This record gives sequence, C-alpha cells and structure tokens, in this order.
Amino acid sequence: MYYITTAIDYTNGAPHIGHAYEKVLADVLARWHRMCGEDVYFLTGVDQHGQKVQQKAEAAGMQPQEYADMVTEKFIALWKRLGISYDGWAATTDPRHEACVQRILTNLKENGCLYKKAYKGFYSVRQEQFLTDKERNEEGVFGPEWGEVIELEEENWYFNLSQHVQWLKDYVTNHPTVCEPEFRRQNLLNAIERSFGVDLCISRPKDRLSWGIPLPFDPDFVTYVWFDALVNYISFAGYLAEEGAGLPDFNKLWPAACEVIGKDILVPAHGIYWLCMLHAMGFPDEAMPRLLVHGWLNIKGEKMSKSLGNIVDPNDLCDVFGAEAVRYYLVRDTKTGYDSDYDPERLKMIYNTELANDIGNLTNRSLNMCTRYCGGRVTVAEGDDELSAALRKNMADTVQTFSAYMNADNTADAFAALNAHVGLCNSYIEQKQPWTLAKDEDNMPELQRVLAHLLECCAQVGYLLACVLPDASSRILSQLQVDVAGLTPQSLAWGLLKDGHTVQAPSPVFPRILSEEEKQKMAEKAAKAAAKAARKAAQQA
Ligand code: MSP
Repeated sequence: MYYITTAIDYTNGAPHIGHAYEKVLADVLARWHRMCGEDVYFLTGVDQHGQKVQQKAEAAGMQPQEYADMVTEKFIALWKRLGISYDGWAATTDPRHEACVQRILTNLKENGCLYKKAYKGFYSVRQEQFLTDKERNEEGVFGPEWGEVIELEEENWYFNLSQHVQWLKDYVTNHPTVCEPEFRRQNLLNAIERSFGVDLCISRPKDRLSWGIPLPFDPDFVTYVWFDALVNYISFAGYLAEEGAGLPDFNKLWPAACEVIGKDILVPAHGIYWLCMLHAMGFPDEAMPRLLVHGWLNIKGEKMSKSLGNIVDPNDLCDVFGAEAVRYYLVRDTKTGYDSDYDPERLKMIYNTELANDIGNLTNRSLNMCTRYCGGRVTVAEGDDELSAALRKNMADTVQTFSAYMNADNTADAFAALNAHVGLCNSYIEQKQPWTLAKDEDNMPELQRVLAHLLECCAQVGYLLACVLPDASSRILSQLQVDVAGLTPQSLAWGLLKDGHTVQAPSPVFPRILSEEEKQKMAEKAAKAAAKAARKAAQQA
C-alpha cells in the first residue's frame, strides 16, 4: 500500500496558493502511484484546535467548532475544485481522532514518558506562549511584537523528548530516505544537535486554552496542538481504532510511504517531535514514515502574509485560468524541495506554450490531418525511416525518464521531459510536412506512417499527463479513442494504436489564455473579417 498524506491545514484562516501547491503535489504523486498499479491511500485534512482558532472564533463571535467548520468548508471546496483525490479526511475534532490521542497519552504516561512539573519563565500575553532567550532581539530584550511580557509560573505536562534524541540522531544519520531532499535532512541533523536536553511541553492549562483535547488523566489541561495534530497521520490510518470505526486497517497502511510537508514544519515538529513520539510509542525503526519536504511559494521573493496584503487565493486563479492550468503550473514550475516565486504571468506563459501550443496543437493537428487525409483511420504501414525510428526511441526513453523523475517525486523535471518529447513531435511534423506528402498518392504509406507515429505519441503523452491533468488527459484519449484501462507506465509500449484504429475529429483541449488586450485585438480582427466578407457578398450580389 502506498500511503501518502499531507500536513493538515490550520483552520484559522483561508486556503492560499501555498496550501494548494502542497495538496496538488501530493495529489499528482498519489495519482501517479495509482497509475503504476499501486494500492494508494491518500489522506489530508484540517488542524482544527489551538489558540489561534479559539481567538479567531471569539473575535468572530462564534463557537470554536462553528468557526473551524466554516473555514474547513473553504478547504474542502477548494480541494474539490482542484481535483484533489484524497481517500481519507483528517479533521482533528473527529471523536475517533480525539479518542486515539487520549489512548496514546494514557499509554505514554503508563510507560513513564510523561511527567508534570512547574515552569517559571517569561510569557507573552499577546502571543500566549512562553519565551526563551532565542526570542530576544539584538538588544537582548523581547521586542514589541511580543506585546506585554510577564514572568509566569505554570504547571504543565512534559513528554521526555530528551530521552529519544540520541536514537533520533542515529536514526536520521543512518536512514537517508527518512527526510528528502537530502539538504533538508542535513538541516534536520543540525537541528537535532541543538535539541539535546530539552523536553516537550505537551499540555496547556484549560483556563488559558480550552479549545483542545483534554488530557485523560488530568482534566485541568488540554493537549498541545502540535501533539494532537501530528497524531492525525496514524489516528486516521486506524491506529488503536475501535472495531467498526470506519477507519482503514492500520497494518495495511503504516508506515506512511510519504508525508508531504512544508519546510517550515520540518523542525522541530515533524523531524524531531513526531519521530520521537513514534519511537516513544514503541514504533520500531522500520515503521518510521518518510518525510517529503517541499519549499515555499513566495510572492516576488517575499513571504505571503496578511500584513503585506499579498495572499493569493487559488479560487481566483481557477476562475481565470481553470483548475487544471493551475495544477500544471504548480508542479511544473516548482522543483520539489525548493522555494519558488508564484507569478501569474508565468502561469499564463507555461499554459499557453506547453499546453495550448505544444501538446494541444500537436494533438489537434495530428487528429485533424488524420481526419482530412485518411478519413480518421490509422494505418500501420510497412516500412520505416530514420526520423520515425528516432521518434519511437525518444518516446520510449521519455517514458523511462518521466517515470524515474516521478518516482523520485521530481514533478518539474518529469513534465519538462514530457514536454521535450512533444517538442520533438512538433519538429517531426515540420520535417515530414504531412500536408506536402498528402499531395501525392505515392506518398500515402509515408503519410500514414507519420500520422500513426504522431497519434501514438499523443496517446502516450496524453496517458502520462493523467496524473496532473486528469480531465484534459481523458479528453485527449477520448478523441484518440484509446482505452487505457489496465495500462501502467511500466507496461506502456509502442502500439497503443493498432492498424485500422479510428480516431475522432479534434476539438481543442487547451484553448489559449488571452489577455484583455489580446481578446480585444481578436474581436477587432473578427469584426474586420466579417465586414470584409459582407462587402464581398454585397459586391457579388
Ligand atoms: N497545522 C499545521 C500542520 C500540522 S501537520 C500535523 C500547519 N498548518 S498550515 O496551514 O500553516 O500549513 C499547512 C501546510 O501548508 C504546511 O505544510 C506548510 O508548510 C504549507 N504552507 C504554508 N504556506 C506555504 C507557502 N507559502 N508555500 C508552500 N507551502 C506552504 O502548519
């Protein structure tokens, strides 16, 4: 089973383009592994507890659950629109999750991993958190961003994280695939070095924060939101679930083949707390999840933030460009693991070149020529030539390269490789000039060969695109009348279109995205042409 899951999104705001990138990346990988014939379980969801949700709800005059549900709806609607094909939904206020968190806490306490102690320190009233020396500015004081800072003594429950850090260091050192890409694992190793000797506070007093899961053994406290949220990866996979809870069979799912998270939550949450929590729960080394860490989508090099007013709502992009164009852009223009700049001009440019001009035009022209010159019938004629043989070889190599990149979670290079093959197909058309071949009956076998080669490439590329453009892919394949049921990328071989296969007349799959100016020019051109036609008709009359 390929179990893929993403970070669960905070319900203290609305989804933005960064959230969308993570979900689309995970979805493309999930769809890819399904295409490869693997049994895939894709989990995503929402992180509904915590201080911020409680505060936002209070400000909105709502109950926390009501507020969290309202924001959750926005995420669900966006994932539907973007075609995110998740199998399981993790919402942390689900009673099944709450029961699992409480069972884990009880077990950890019984095994001596939790203890209560008083802590005295500086506390930011505005941010509602204890501050350490790391939060002091260059002048050695807590800056204005922390608001009023008071000295506070508070009792809390602690997880004995420090007892697991040596194990973690050894584990991460000896298991290169625990965290990818590699440079992120190095970041993690550096952070582990700095985390020896510190335990993790896993509770919040109820009088300060009520919106959380109560500690089963101390009702004056709720569970720290990160401890609660991290458990989602196993609770919704069926860990310690009751019979009939409607959750998957944990033994079939775990360990997660891929937990897709952003770079900001690798350290300390996933790379340190989560792995140590699992270790403390008794999970052996072989049962540790793999973390796939992606970078951030920024705006002109800056972080997206409310204060800068540069937050991009993916819904607005879907309105203008369509959901599939947004999907393609996100995974094509961002190299997994690295930051990238969101740029709507690039979105439009990539759509117009790689989708509308390249694969769109190739399919359109090939189907059109087959319809016009051969009545829509594909003939696999005798004979061969160098260019056609090279095209076949390149198609086979591209399937291999594409698959290798996808298996390495490298979507940007995978789609670049596919697009390069489409480029070769388009230059093959220019070299072969089927419209010239069609002028002479003697060239029929070559014309048929050229069209058969082009349509076969359209079918293979159209099939591989299914993981990123499910709708466009099925439209391409349906015009080509190709049935890919049971096909896998591994079994993909030349000959999807057999001799005598028939195709449909084309209908554009990727209409060009035009700017307002371009639309205006097109309208003017059309009006001029209509006026000219009318004049001509009048003259003839
Ligand atoms: N609730 C926590 C995660 C708990 S997982 C057990 C959280 N939520 S979040 O809403 O702030 O972020 C959700 C995911 O979106 C994280 O993986 C985060 O890295 C990612 N992103 C948030 N902003 C992003 C960008 N600007 N760009 C790309 N991904 C970003 O953290």
